[in-house]
Amino acid sequence: MGHAITAEQERVYGDLLLGRSVLLLGAAGTGKSEFIRHARKHLPGRVAVVAPTGMAAMNVGVGAVTIHSFFQIPPADGGYFQRELFAVKSRVAGLLKNIDYLIVDEVSMVRPDLFDLMNSLAQRARGSSEFFGGICLLLVGDFHQLPPVIRTGERELFRAHYGFPNVYLFDAKCLQNEELSTVRLTKIFRQRSEKFLSLLDRIGRGDVDSAVLKELNGRVLGSNPEPRGALTITPYREAAELKNEEELDALPGLVHEYVGQRSGTFLPINGEELPSPERLLLKEGASVLFTCNAPKGEWANGTAATVKRLGRDHIEVQLLGRKRSLLVGQHQWSHILPSGDEYVETGTYRQFPLRLGYALTVHRTQGKTCDEIILQRDRRFFAHGQLYVALSRARTLETVHLTHPISRTDALTDRRVIDYYANGARISANSPGTGHRKT
Ligand SMILES: Nc1ncnc2c1ncn2[C@@H]1O[C@H](COP(=O)(O)OP(=O)(O)OP(=O)(O)O)[C@@H](O)[C@H]1O
Ligand SMILES: [Mg+2]
Repeated sequence: MGHAITAEQERVYGDLLLGRSVLLLGAAGTGKSEFIRHARKHLPGRVAVVAPTGMAAMNVGVGAVTIHSFFQIPPADGGYFQRELFAVKSRVAGLLKNIDYLIVDEVSMVRPDLFDLMNSLAQRARGSSEFFGGICLLLVGDFHQLPPVIRTGERELFRAHYGFPNVYLFDAKCLQNEELSTVRLTKIFRQRSEKFLSLLDRIGRGDVDSAVLKELNGRVLGSNPEPRGALTITPYREAAELKNEEELDALPGLVHEYVGQRSGTFLPINGEELPSPERLLLKEGASVLFTCNAPKGEWANGTAATVKRLGRDHIEVQLLGRKRSLLVGQHQWSHILPSGDEYVETGTYRQFPLRLGYALTVHRTQGKTCDEIILQRDRRFFAHGQLYVALSRARTLETVHLTHPISRTDALTDRRVIDYYANGARISANSPGTGHRKT
């Protein structure tokens, strides 16, 4: 961690110092989240960091929380179209009055109705009709990655309120008259090979021809065994759970169960999952992933390891590719909110910072960097950006394996996103009525 900041990133930082809100875009692996870690450390003033999902929040660092949790927005069936129904809780008002910067990571997954509500809450809390009541915003993400979750029954409501059934952050009403400075990071750090980068770029844009498929499908496992220690990535949550259970069942030995303990108000506000499973089932020999960063840096969130011994108070694990093993104790996660100059704890969760490491959903991998992956393609990828997000977790094509061949229809893209970028990726470039330029 702690990379030198690039000239492009320097520009963003300069804008933020001047109090200008910024939309920071850039393909997977351009160091966007890394830049957030830098900015929150160095910006003068009080900074809050939020993300649409708990995983994305955790990925960006300690103290980052979900949008719902920071703004204390209850889950709402049918969306947040009637903003006046949502009160500013006094605690939240205190927070919003006190911050100078609000950073939002993974904005491709943020719904515009939620974003408009965030703006409205900030304006009311600060008694100002300015954009977010004058808080300086840093919005970070890549619209080629996963889109917001919109239920089928909500599409018509979005069409009525926002002009489109498939909406994005850039459709938010509060952004239509804002001149945000838009910066696109171009230097990709996660991958180096030109060939792999070009493959990823084409899949991200949905520009897939037989040459791309041939190259990608050269990675199908066929009769080869699955490489040990590789992470299976699947679009389907049940499939990930099943794979984890199957692998655990296949191991000899006894199952140990570790039950997590919650107190106060902790994360799962909007159907979010806990950072480590509440019922953690493990066996000796199991592959696991860490679910937090070690205080002294011995491991990070997502580091792979193998269980050596299961004790009551400690679990001995061996990190992938290392000889020595280490003892892991329970971890305590705090759910904290900034309050004035301080942070207050609203709740805690104690559990071993481990989860079974055989499989994850694409949704949970957004933001991560992975050593070796197996894309489970027994059923098709169904959301736009899903294949791109899954593939772009790897650093090289040689560390990607496929259970079945990918077909052209797996690389789904949304015309609206393609047009948005073609029109210069300005925040209000895609409002209804803007001509759709051909790419
Ligand atoms: N300035 C830098 N110099 C060298 N390596 C970097 C730099 N910034 C980030 N990296 C490395 O590149 C990888 C990707 O960084 P990061 O996760 O911040 O990218 P991202 O743009 O947030 O990607 P995603 O869109 O997938 O969330 C990480 O392994 C990180 O350590
Ligand atoms: Mg990121």
